Amino acid sequence: MIKVWDYKKEYQLLRDDILEAVDNVFQSGILIFGPNVEEFEKKFSSYHDSKFGIGVGNCTDAITISLKALGVTSDSEVITTSNTAVPTVTGIVNAGASVRFVDINEYSLIDVNKIEKAINKKTKAIIPVHLYGQMCEMDKIMELASKYNLKVIEDCAQSHGATYKGKKAGSIGDVGCFSFYPTKIFGAYGDGGFITTNNEQIHDKIKRIRFLGMEKKKMSSGHWNGKYYAVEHGTNSRLDEVHAAILLKKLKYLDEWIERRRNLATIYNKELKNTSLELPIEHPDNRHAYYIYVVKHNERDKIMSELTKKDIHLNISYPWPIHIMDAYKHFECESCNCSRKNSKEDTCNLLTETEISSRKVFSLPMYPTLTDEEQNIVIKEIKNILM
Ligand SMILES: Cc1ncc(COP(=O)(O)O)c(C=O)c1O
Repeated sequence: MIKVWDYKKEYQLLRDDILEAVDNVFQSGILIFGPNVEEFEKKFSSYHDSKFGIGVGNCTDAITISLKALGVTSDSEVITTSNTAVPTVTGIVNAGASVRFVDINEYSLIDVNKIEKAINKKTKAIIPVHLYGQMCEMDKIMELASKYNLKVIEDCAQSHGATYKGKKAGSIGDVGCFSFYPTKIFGAYGDGGFITTNNEQIHDKIKRIRFLGMEKKKMSSGHWNGKYYAVEHGTNSRLDEVHAAILLKKLKYLDEWIERRRNLATIYNKELKNTSLELPIEHPDNRHAYYIYVVKHNERDKIMSELTKKDIHLNISYPWPIHIMDAYKHFECESCNCSRKNSKEDTCNLLTETEISSRKVFSLPMYPTLTDEEQNIVIKEIKNILM
């Protein structure tokens, strides 16, 4: 069987290191907010060319906390793409804001040429989602943010280690939000998330919000109380010591693993270029980290079921765009007059590329421990079906 994702081979390679890390934490007696979180915050933010980093419970929380820290409120609108994982939108709605969707380009990323039309008086922020491992065109996004005084929250859940014009994901906008969900390029053995920023004030505010809005306070006796005084409304979202210790062990392999992903992508590109599959395009300004290798085909379902019969398992990211989902179809798209709200139609005449893509996309097995032999089987079986 060839799985679309598998952590067990990686775990066998790192088992001794990981068990040592876990044991050290358990022996230390410090499970929350300890030296591992502190060290990981320094190292992971520095790896992403950012001055500050804050560990949180997951990336959905990272997005909500960041929006709140950046002043997004219930009368704000946030621009993002409908071709994303649901949590991008969950994060926005949890911050109380509304969502305005913009269509995608040939890279399956937010079409930067369509963002300006979607900006209005309520717009407070843009969330470019660096989907599939590739970064959005950040120059144009930062130019618009500066022109209209908007905040930029990079959704880096799928783009650890990716670069745009040599700059790492999470280092260009006001903040970058990362996920350590196990399947990710850089995953934990459970949930985890992270926020990067180069701004000290934003860092301080995010740090406060992630832990119940609390600060140290002097008591009437004159003594400083640890931290049990909420100066603002926050939430409870922490990366724990066990996961920080595990991620510290894994960090030294990240570059090597991304290189392996890129090699696998190069082989898929070469071997599948003469088939009827539409292959992913890497923007010339980007270093794609290939979280997933996404192809498109009109006969997706047939190809997938044929491959499943051969015990090759694939995935669809994502079968439905967010704007057609019951939970979010009330949000309007860019300056849209198609009134989806009042009709039975799910489709939006301004998000056509997103809709077309969702009917064709699927991803081939892609992870550093996928062997050359396994990849050859996948390629051979796809060619058998298509040729
Ligand atoms: C693009 C994107 N944003 C946000 C998230 C949320 O990450 P988490 O599961 O850590 O909350 C994910 C994870 O699925 C994602 O893929």
